Amino acid sequence: MESAIDHHTARALLEWQFELGVTDAIGDDPVNRYDLPGAAPWQQEKHVDRPDAADMPVARRTEDPVAVAEAAAKRAGTLEALRAALAAFEHCELKKGARNLVFCDGVAGARVMIIGEAPGRDEDREGRPFVGRAGQLLDRMLAAVNLSRETSVYITNVLPWRPPQNRDPRPDEIAMMRPFLQRHVELAEPDVIIAMGNISCDAILGRRGITRLRGNWAQGFGRPVLPMCHPAYLLRQPLAKREAWADLLSLQARLKGST
Ligand code: URA
Repeated sequence: MESAIDHHTARALLEWQFELGVTDAIGDDPVNRYDLPGAAPWQQEKHVDRPDAADMPVARRTEDPVAVAEAAAKRAGTLEALRAALAAFEHCELKKGARNLVFCDGVAGARVMIIGEAPGRDEDREGRPFVGRAGQLLDRMLAAVNLSRETSVYITNVLPWRPPQNRDPRPDEIAMMRPFLQRHVELAEPDVIIAMGNISCDAILGRRGITRLRGNWAQGFGRPVLPMCHPAYLLRQPLAKREAWADLLSLQARLKGST
């Protein structure tokens, strides 16, 4: 019988399981799912336009995840309550594959809030944003303008769970996590936001095209937003560090009140 998923997808799913630490199939006897009554999950009708909808209980399939996220985020009156609301949010399938919820790092209430894309492997392990190679570069960049996560910067991501194999977040994932991000900004009350990379610009400004956006102050979530190239991009394209330096100086000037 022809499989509903292609070879590459099946292989990617298997590799993801390996990466999560799966070593054995559980159950003594193999289950022939084609013999089970009812259609296989991927043959069932989807109630909403989400690729993962077939795996969900019917009640949750019919709910609008964005509306649920908006209501949950609105109810959170503190950063800790927002973290708890995220931990209780069951509509994002990324949660199932993640080891940890990655909520924040740095100083809550700092003037500068950095918003990255999503946790990678190191962040997923530690439960803190920007702790891998890109994060180490970010720390050096901040130090160059006398900022640090220990004293003067607050850090989070658009998505709090690691996407499998670090794939780009999907539009539906960004849309359902955006209400939490907006509330995060409201509660953290930064003077300025740094939008690190395209996904962050998409979530905050509704725009992509970081090479054109970077360095140009914009307005998002009611605050000044400076789009910058993501440190992971700078690791791959060291020549772009020159522009990143100019952006850091622009940030420094804004904090000193001279722009
Ligand atoms: N890249 C991000 O955007 N965020 C992290 O936390 C780590 C890498």
